[in-house]
Amino acid sequence: MHLLITGGAGFIGTNFIRFVRRNRPGWKVTNLDVLSYSGNLENLRDLESDPRYTFVKGDICDAATVGPLVEKADGVIHMAAESHVDRSILDSRPFVVSNTLGTQTMLDACRRARRGDKPWPGRMVYVSTDEVYGSLPLERPEIRFREDMPLEPNSPYASSKAGGDLLVRAYFHTFGQNVVTTRCSNNFGPYQFPEKVIPLFVTNLLEGKQVPLYGDGKNVRDWIHVDDHAEAVLTVLERGQAGEVYNIGGNNERSNLELTHTILKLMGKGTESIRYVQDRLGHDRRYAIDGSKIERELGWKPTRSSWPEALEATIDWYRTNTEWWNRVKSGQYREYYDKQYGSR
Ligand code: NAD
Ligand code: TYD
Repeated sequence: MHLLITGGAGFIGTNFIRFVRRNRPGWKVTNLDVLSYSGNLENLRDLESDPRYTFVKGDICDAATVGPLVEKADGVIHMAAESHVDRSILDSRPFVVSNTLGTQTMLDACRRARRGDKPWPGRMVYVSTDEVYGSLPLERPEIRFREDMPLEPNSPYASSKAGGDLLVRAYFHTFGQNVVTTRCSNNFGPYQFPEKVIPLFVTNLLEGKQVPLYGDGKNVRDWIHVDDHAEAVLTVLERGQAGEVYNIGGNNERSNLELTHTILKLMGKGTESIRYVQDRLGHDRRYAIDGSKIERELGWKPTRSSWPEALEATIDWYRTNTEWWNRVKSGQYREYYDKQYGSR
């Protein structure tokens, strides 16, 4: 098997490639990544000498780059994207370009690719997000996202991802293409860019700073360990049904307040470390995944996401890998945040 992974230098891509290395050691992996602010080749430096691993710097919107790479691969995991909601509120254009147009470029490359005189025989898995469903009410805890719910994305990020979802659907319907979509909840784990809430809060506390909690802190997210996500995507690649959508969740709903208090406790800090800040515009209240379809049809469920153990292990990773996040935080990341919020 030769797998093409887009966005492999980002958080989930890095962990996915490492997961494939551990669990499918004979597979070849090509990683196509444009190395935007969140793409970091340092994450995979130890694989550079591995003859079964190749890195290609390039843009998923560039058909001339993507086409030959798809043709050489047997399958594609498409996860390159602009991924941060706050950035999409500041400037949505790069989101539409990479997440919607980029997905269309990937789909076309799969459609046009040939193997000899036959169509390309591979499958593309599109790694989408539960945010395409919109927001659930706090007052109705029994409701969770199901795959047959309408797409009601609220942020420019979620809408640009939903554009990808709809194109994947259209390419299956129109061309009978072998495509599958996954919609996963919030990931946590090593190598996450410290603009997302868990690595931001953990590294701020390690620096002796406060953590900026948005609004009333009652927003709920369903947290999944990134290795559970990786295993689920691999399961869908190998056993999913073409044209289907699979939700992936951690069965681990927490309010941001609960998340923050757990992090503070695990790091020996008090509530004086919390700084309540202005809420995010259009802040989705609650995300929660009904993961019964992937469990029923493909026999997969999360096994690595339970708290506080999985969260504690993640905190330990950031504690041990200070140099990694120091380098990341002292670059564009800090410039961006200082410009947006002043120094936090
Ligand atoms: P990330 O920002 O850490 O990584 C994204 C990667 O994509 C980076 O390496 C970046 O350089 C690359 N990239 C961006 N635009 C590109 C382009 N035009 N061409 C080539 N490469 C490009 O994001 P992440 O958290 O690892 O998310 C990966 C995927 O998973 C995204 O599609 C995201 O929507 C999805 N997802 C993320 C989460 C989460 O909690 N982080 C949850 C569900 C789904
Ligand atoms: P984030 O990690 O940005 O993921 P997403 O918005 O895609 O769910 O945020 C997770 C939650 O944490 C979300 O409800 C917003 C909140 N949050 C804060 O309270 N403070 C912060 O500084 C950040 C980045 C997020």
